[in-house]
Amino acid sequence: MDFQQIFGAEPTTQATAPGRVNLLGEHTDYNEGFVLPTAIPQSTTVQLGFSSDDQHHFYSQELDEKVSLARTGPTPQGFASYVFGCIQMVSAEQPVPPLNVYVTSSVPIGSGLSSSAALEVATFRGLRALLELKLDDVQIAQLAQQAEIQYAGVECGIMDQMASSLADLGQLLFLDTRTLERQVLPLPPETEILVIDSGVPRKLAASGYNQRRAECEAAARQLGVSALRDVSDPQAAESLPEPLRRRARHVITEDNRVLEAVRGVSAQRFGELMNASHASLRDDYEVSVSALDTLVEMLQTTSDVFGARLTGAGFGGACVALVRAGQALAVGQAVLERYNRQGYAGRLLVPEAH
Ligand code: GLA
Repeated sequence: MDFQQIFGAEPTTQATAPGRVNLLGEHTDYNEGFVLPTAIPQSTTVQLGFSSDDQHHFYSQELDEKVSLARTGPTPQGFASYVFGCIQMVSAEQPVPPLNVYVTSSVPIGSGLSSSAALEVATFRGLRALLELKLDDVQIAQLAQQAEIQYAGVECGIMDQMASSLADLGQLLFLDTRTLERQVLPLPPETEILVIDSGVPRKLAASGYNQRRAECEAAARQLGVSALRDVSDPQAAESLPEPLRRRARHVITEDNRVLEAVRGVSAQRFGELMNASHASLRDDYEVSVSALDTLVEMLQTTSDVFGARLTGAGFGGACVALVRAGQALAVGQAVLERYNRQGYAGRLLVPEAH
């Protein structure tokens, strides 16, 4: 069913935004540190029109779910909460008329590839076009982050929304999440990206995430800095009590890995940094699960793979690998065959298998 069939009219405008995969710099953004994501081919498209009654109506094609609600809320559940959150952010500044919103997306949900940021950024882009809002792409990312915090209840950083709003396919977005200064960088020479979903959905991600964030803030307070970004020597973490010591050590070493990677290292070195990142996320940050460790290890020990790690918040979801150019599809299929033989339901996400 398309927009016309659901709402009985043609859409007035539409907008699209991609998901993202993060190559390095995990759990650093809410510590005001450095990240290195890129856009993925999967994206979310939002079509918008004006509603003929006084309610908002949202429809998700993938879920075949329609939600109608008063303009004042209450906040709905699921996909509609993100759309509603974005509209509420705008209506804090100016009146928003009742809208029909049609959502369609190829970004997998719950894989750590930022389906929520893609939905938020696409919604803001659509609202910008429909209501002629004066918003640039950075402001859209900032509003989208606030929508996520206030309406989805995750105390997230700004990486996902900045990546969805500003990153390009095939290029890395090196972002300083404190200043929002950024640089577009090429992938290491002769490489491409492989993304595999572990088939294990994220569990307890929101509570585990908010807890990690609180631990980092406690660690920063004890070290006397405003954010862990201000510490570059991992030795500094050694004075902290557990688990703050290991949490801080992850963040400090992860920032250092991003800064080394963007100095223009070889594919081999970039891959080593990704492998070290996974070990740190597993042992110090404790956001991996055994399926991710299994999949990452299979990738790391496969030829033509320079490095591999879990990507996104962790607690399940996807892995990213840096692979010799031209080999990602073959490597992905071979590794998946072995991995799924162990009873998992992994699937190839990038490159898209046709
Ligand atoms: C989620 C959050 C991001 C970031 C990552 C972990 O994707 O939305 O802000 O913190 O986890 O790096």
